Amino acid sequence: MISRVENPDALAREARRYGFLPREVDPTLDLHAEIGRLKREKRAVILAHYYQDSEIQDLADFVGDSLQLARAAQQTEAQLIVFAGVHFMAETAKILNPDRKVVLPDLNAGCSLSDSCPAPLFAAFKAQYPDHVVVSYINCSAELKALSDVIVTSSNAVAIVESFPPDQPIIFAPDRNLGAYLNKKTGRNMRLWNGACMVHEIFSYKKIRDLMAQHPEAQLIAHPECEEPVLELAHFIGSTSALLRYVVESPVRQLIVATEPGILHQMRRQAPHKELIAAPSNQACACNNCPHMKLNTLEKLYVCLLYEQPELQLPADLIEAARRPIDRMLTLSQGIK
Ligand code: 13P
Ligand code: SF4
Repeated sequence: MISRVENPDALAREARRYGFLPREVDPTLDLHAEIGRLKREKRAVILAHYYQDSEIQDLADFVGDSLQLARAAQQTEAQLIVFAGVHFMAETAKILNPDRKVVLPDLNAGCSLSDSCPAPLFAAFKAQYPDHVVVSYINCSAELKALSDVIVTSSNAVAIVESFPPDQPIIFAPDRNLGAYLNKKTGRNMRLWNGACMVHEIFSYKKIRDLMAQHPEAQLIAHPECEEPVLELAHFIGSTSALLRYVVESPVRQLIVATEPGILHQMRRQAPHKELIAAPSNQACACNNCPHMKLNTLEKLYVCLLYEQPELQLPADLIEAARRPIDRMLTLSQGIK
């Protein structure tokens, strides 16, 4: 049972130790109503990524992909930002709002792609190519952002890469799949860091091909974090929000969706008459849930809002250094959906 009389410093220490506050939540509580009440009382904003559980998406003030969430974080006036997503996304919100309090339901919600590019290793790699600019995918740590010239998301990456002169040498980090896709799309030869997302690399080329043969009318739509053979099968490639738009706007009735299945919730809401099939993985199960995103639960969201812990904090000099490439991205991607 939750007791509200607790020492704030002890709470913060405990939240840091576990990554969340391990509190038993009364199972008879109406969590939707309680979260709504706390949010209004505290004038907090809840931002959620499309890969969150549907019940968290339904409670959020704003649901979006990485670019949309960065913009929402830039524009919000709330003093308390509750970020239902993964660590690097909450970091971006903090970098854009150094004076606000940013909390997330579970600090352990990391990202395999971000982890695949530790900043010290990347700094040594970057030092070998002093004439290169560094374009980094937003799915990376604040330390890596601080080593970058500009940040991109899957929504704006093509436009931002193309904003550099064709002869400008570029390092792209950390996603080798998105990097290879961008090289193909823009005709560049960016030097790629060898990182990947565990969720998007797990799709089975063979099972998808078999599924397409069984459903000849269906179109495959895929996120550019998928491996090249899967992308080659795709009728449409795009960021999470672009995939959602495609489902809503295209006349195609049956679609195989190769990205994290959390997005299916919004696709089904916005295009209820379409038949959506989650692309199969190379594991025995058919699910590609991101284990990091799914660490956030309704109970942890409630506890986090109630205690305003765990709080995401970053040193001021890191915030300053990481902010420059994020601001540059936001300027360069004006007008991009
Ligand atoms: P977008 O939100 O840019 O589509 O990226 C997907 C993703 O993997 C987020 O972690
Ligand atoms: Fe990271 Fe992939 Fe999960 Fe996105 S889906 S948070 S890139 S592991």
